[in-house]
Amino acid sequence: MYFIYPRGYIVLNSNVLNIPKIIIALDFPNKKAAMKLVDLLNPSIFYLKIGKEMFTILGHQFVKELHQLGFNIFLDLKFHDIPNTVFNATKAAADLGIWMLSIHASGGKKMLMSAKKALQSFDKAPLLIAITALTSLKEIELKEIGVHISLTEYILTLSKLSNDCGLDGVVCPGKEAKKIKYLFGNKYKIITPGIRFSEDLSYDQNNVISPKEAKAYNIDYIVLGRSVTMSKNPIHKLNLIINSMKYT
Ligand code: C5P
Repeated sequence: MYFIYPRGYIVLNSNVLNIPKIIIALDFPNKKAAMKLVDLLNPSIFYLKIGKEMFTILGHQFVKELHQLGFNIFLDLKFHDIPNTVFNATKAAADLGIWMLSIHASGGKKMLMSAKKALQSFDKAPLLIAITALTSLKEIELKEIGVHISLTEYILTLSKLSNDCGLDGVVCPGKEAKKIKYLFGNKYKIITPGIRFSEDLSYDQNNVISPKEAKAYNIDYIVLGRSVTMSKNPIHKLNLIINSMKYT
């Protein structure tokens, strides 16, 4: 169903697939390594995530370059600061023409509302997505920071807060996705990192799910990082992931 175009693009034969959309986490140490993968991807199918690593190395110029290549960019800078700073940073991020932006829900109501307000003046504002709990977080670590509720309760509390503040969705571990959709509706977007086949290394991630589970949990977007970027053949791995979701 998938084949490599002369340019090296992966192309889907059928446009309408009822599977989660794919965001590739561009976590590379330099531009050359990132572009080696980007050059193989079709911008009408794959979304790109630029996080703290690449943004710190390459800055906004890299975001603009990828945008010019036709990619939708998820700028995953996970803002968490006082409301005024987040307001200004959100505006600056939206000016880059990005498609999605992340902020930490734990920054609180005023911070979330400020970020939302910052986007009001944009005709085509990016989706504003809240981080609930990092997929690397363990319940015991919540206690270490003084949070004495379960990880699931914590995620649902922050999802509700973000929904109340008018955000477009949340980043959350896959296992909570169904509940969030049930509570806040199908339009509330769910983005899930920590996607792994059973044979993949989980690295520092604690809450991992398979691509098949991501489809079953009705997740809107899966974030694929090291399972693809560290693979010897990322295109082959992407095809395996897509096919495993498609044929379920
Ligand atoms: O390599 P791996 O698949 O674990 O990559 C996950 C990506 O998703 C990383 O870029 C990480 O920063 C990001 N992320 C996450 N958990 C969140 C939000 C973002 O792992 N809650």
